Amino acid sequence: MTMNKTKRSDVDVLTAIRDRRSIRRYTSEPVDDDTLHAILKSGLCAPTAMNRRPFHFVVIKNPEMLAQLAAGKKYARMLAHARAGIVICGDNTVEDRPEHLFADCYAATQNMLLAIHGLHLGGVWLGVTVESEWYHLLQEKLKLPANIVPTAVIALGHPAEERPLPETWESEKIHYETW
Ligand SMILES: Cc1cc2nc3c(=O)[nH]c(=O)nc-3n(C[C@H](O)[C@H](O)[C@H](O)COP(=O)(O)O)c2cc1C
Repeated sequence: MTMNKTKRSDVDVLTAIRDRRSIRRYTSEPVDDDTLHAILKSGLCAPTAMNRRPFHFVVIKNPEMLAQLAAGKKYARMLAHARAGIVICGDNTVEDRPEHLFADCYAATQNMLLAIHGLHLGGVWLGVTVESEWYHLLQEKLKLPANIVPTAVIALGHPAEERPLPETWESEKIHYETW
């Protein structure tokens, strides 16, 4: 992918944050490369500890590969019907403190989910438990080098479902000055 056009969203940042929901059903319409580029760029804009930027993203569009990965985890079945998957990985030789490696990768994951929503696509975060069967399947199928840790997967596409927005304000979770 060589293009580097600046995509814009017509959704302001607060609205995107408030209105984003996990979308697990997608239409057959493909996600074009400019849009994918804008999503990946959003991931690369995430803050990282000491600006080490340990993340790598594996983009998967091959339906066969998506289906093979989907089959490896019960709660990742929608990946088989997604138009693309993004596997967010961290290089543990670049960031050797696990808490920062995961924080950096998760910040990138959330940035991309917000970009997906802001571009009127839909996506869902799929968790990868360290040393789980899925973790090892991702390592094997994607031929990840030994120092590359898969931390999360995003399934995405054009949304084929609309989900209502729940009430998320919980005043008991907000503490001022002291607990
Ligand atoms: C760390 C993490 C792991 C998740 N793993 C999965 C998953 O494996 N499968 C899935 O369908 N959703 C997964 N989700 C999405 C959550 O189910 C979803 O964010 C939550 O239910 C709230 O819904 P919302 O995203 O629509 O606000 C995950 C989210 C996070 C943050």
